[in-house]
Amino acid sequence: MEKSIITLPEPQKDLTFPLMKALEKRRTLRRWKDTSLSMQELSNLLWAACGITKEKQGKIKSKRTAPSACNSQEIRVYVLLKEGAFFYDEEQHALIEIVPKDIREHVGTQKMMKTAPVGLVFVADLSRMRSPLFRSEEAQRFCAWVDTGYISQNIYLYCAAANLATAALALIKRDKLHSQMNLQEHEKIVLTQVVGHPE
Ligand SMILES: Cc1cc2nc3c(=O)[nH]c(=O)nc-3n(C[C@H](O)[C@H](O)[C@H](O)COP(=O)(O)O)c2cc1C
Repeated sequence: MEKSIITLPEPQKDLTFPLMKALEKRRTLRRWKDTSLSMQELSNLLWAACGITKEKQGKIKSKRTAPSACNSQEIRVYVLLKEGAFFYDEEQHALIEIVPKDIREHVGTQKMMKTAPVGLVFVADLSRMRSPLFRSEEAQRFCAWVDTGYISQNIYLYCAAANLATAALALIKRDKLHSQMNLQEHEKIVLTQVVGHPE
């Protein structure tokens, strides 16, 4: 069956908000209105998370808003919306459908998280961690957590600047979410994060 693709509008890279103010304003907020984010907000949010800032050149990989160990870019961002679950394809700046149904209730175990308009799932694709730096599973896991942290903080800062509510979540039933998303064995859920318009 054809997978639906949502092409996102260009991110608004010329938005202005002082970085020091965004750092000061950054907060975990756990209440939101029952409104969806606009496509423009989603576009900005995902580009801020780990969007491309320098295109790949031949065999040299692209650069992103978030650093990653050995530039392995192993953290893939998935987006859970009312319309279904999607994979954020940074190169196309588009959402690729992976599950055609609403699975947002699995984003976290706390009751209030199940009502968040947007769920983000940070998934480490271990097949992308091929450098000798990742010789042990422990080394892979440490780097995947750190690399996720940069992406999560980018989202926190964009949300602070764009007046959105967000919370990073480790209280997750990873096995359940993994199966709901039809992920493979080498794809490991690290963390999730919810986003909405603040109440
Ligand atoms: C790795 C990580 C996991 C977290 N997991 C949860 C969670 O499962 N549920 C939750 O309500 N908050 C979660 N938080 C948010 C923290 O509770 C919050 O960052 C902390 O209380 C400090 O508040 P602040 O972010 O507003 O500064 C998590 C934060 C991080 C960094």
